[in-house]
Amino acid sequence: MLRLELANVLSERIGAEGIDWPSALAAHAHLLQAARDALWQRKSDPAEFLGWIDVPDDTETLRRVLRYRQAHPWVQDLVVLGIGGSALGAQAVSAALGKGPVRLHFVDNVEPEPILALRGSLDPHKTLVNVISKSGSTAETMAAFLLFRHWLEQNLADWKKHLVITTDPAKGLLRSYAQAEGLTAFEVPPSVGGRFSVTCPVGTLPLAFAEVDLGGLLAGARKSNEQARAALEHNLPAQTALIHHLFSQRGKNIVVFMPYSTRLRYLPDWFVQLHDESLGKAVNRAGEEVRTGTTAVRAIGTTDQHAQVQLFREGPRDKLINIVRLLNPSEDLEIPVVRGLEALDYLFGKRFFELLDAEAKATAHALAKAKQPNYTLTLEKLDAYNLGWLLQHLMWQTAFLGELWNINAFDQPGVELGKEYTYALMGRKGWESLAQELRAEGVE
Ligand code: PA5
Repeated sequence: MLRLELANVLSERIGAEGIDWPSALAAHAHLLQAARDALWQRKSDPAEFLGWIDVPDDTETLRRVLRYRQAHPWVQDLVVLGIGGSALGAQAVSAALGKGPVRLHFVDNVEPEPILALRGSLDPHKTLVNVISKSGSTAETMAAFLLFRHWLEQNLADWKKHLVITTDPAKGLLRSYAQAEGLTAFEVPPSVGGRFSVTCPVGTLPLAFAEVDLGGLLAGARKSNEQARAALEHNLPAQTALIHHLFSQRGKNIVVFMPYSTRLRYLPDWFVQLHDESLGKAVNRAGEEVRTGTTAVRAIGTTDQHAQVQLFREGPRDKLINIVRLLNPSEDLEIPVVRGLEALDYLFGKRFFELLDAEAKATAHALAKAKQPNYTLTLEKLDAYNLGWLLQHLMWQTAFLGELWNINAFDQPGVELGKEYTYALMGRKGWESLAQELRAEGVE
């Protein structure tokens, strides 16, 4: 169960900048309903990149992923080669819910030393390499692909069994290479963008090797779909999108995403990419310059209470803080009684989870007392169902915000430009004139 606690965004708690919730909902009902209807209506058009809505219903692909996992019991290390949306989802979920024995590694940068260290630690006979790139062209992923492909072939006669590709079903170099070499390849649906792809094989294939309950993850995502279709009073993503919208209008340009959980330590990275890449846009759908977006920032409770919360509470009032709290632990620990340390008796016999929870509540309240708006999303517990629900919820929230701001939340022209400059600087064929342009601008 995913719930919203919004007391600390209300005017009775945080004063003039706060929201009067019933009237805010009523005033925006028309806009939010129009956003909801537009998203559901447009989802069957592949050009709209709303395929992530239907992916959790695709049980056939899920079965294929699970069959593939079962057919590879020898895998000890799974190396994921991918970047951005092609890595962050699986990394976040595997850190939260993954169980051994397979170790997952994510190569999402091209700094040589960590790659060498990883490669040196692997036994090729027990390693499976999953190259993930929707475009099949991203330079970082292609460089890592060349390296690991070469390493596999040098070490194994049956190297093809150790390589699996996840890419577009028809386009791009990886697809044609997989076909030419007879390699196993999974599909990223054309209507699903990288940062919305965690529930398709981009996420599910690595997560199958991490023994994550994928049925539960997709069921949770479907639950969020149900809410995103509902009337406003039950439509959680429309509600949280409205909170973000209203506080961005009040000059809160920074969004802090702060789960109280070490297991969720990579979730903020996934959220930052989803939020920033989707919502930071120069122009709206009418082509007018708008410069939208709020900057998402990572934090982990309680750890960052001792790093960032001082600033969140007493620094500039430019933030909206989203705390994520678990309501129940999966396991718990009792704090023992130790004679001679009676000064700590307020902790004696208490549970660690009770302390974690008290810290989350204390921070939320301390922020509210300083008039820093914050809201909390609570998860019944950290399992595949609740995490799938939260992931899909955050995707919906992003889509709703895109509608409210009249921007395309599903493209990334700024990212693509960086990729093109890299091709030109690295001497890729076909990019000579851009390379020349860059040289003229002093970039070589
Ligand atoms: O969300 C996105 O679309 C991007 O972050 C991509 O996932 C990232 O750039 C990697 O692209 P690709 O999967 O084509 O290699």
